[in-house]
Amino acid sequence: MTVELMVKEAKKARELAYTPYSKFKVGAALRSKDGQIFHGCNIENAAYSLCNCAERTALFKAYSEGVRDYDLLVVVADTEGPVSPCGACRQVISELCDPDMEVILTNMNEQIQKLTVKELLPGAFSSKDLQKD
Ligand code: THU
Repeated sequence: MTVELMVKEAKKARELAYTPYSKFKVGAALRSKDGQIFHGCNIENAAYSLCNCAERTALFKAYSEGVRDYDLLVVVADTEGPVSPCGACRQVISELCDPDMEVILTNMNEQIQKLTVKELLPGAFSSKDLQKD
């Protein structure tokens, strides 16, 4: 699936967001190397800290279905410029995706920022940091 279609899929995913509190809808589309698309939206909760972001929804869906290799993540929201993923999502993306995988951040006006996972979170905490020797 092309980048243009992936942006469309992320926008479709965004429509399904459950955001009674923030009213801020986010959509994500994750493409696996074998060509599957996993959609994600943010899902909020009256206990605010339980809100789950769109990016993590898409990644956890794919991972929990046993699909582990991805080559593109698109994230979209109605922001002035390309949407900026939160720190928690940057950390989860760094954990589960290849450091060189492409990430496309965009908005409803199709302003696009392309970067890699390692650019999204330089110096991410990783399994290497858990090794003492
Ligand atoms: N949100 C996302 O879904 N992804 C991000 O990267 C930024 C924030 C959601 C969480 C919450 O539902 C709403 O946007 C406002 O923070």
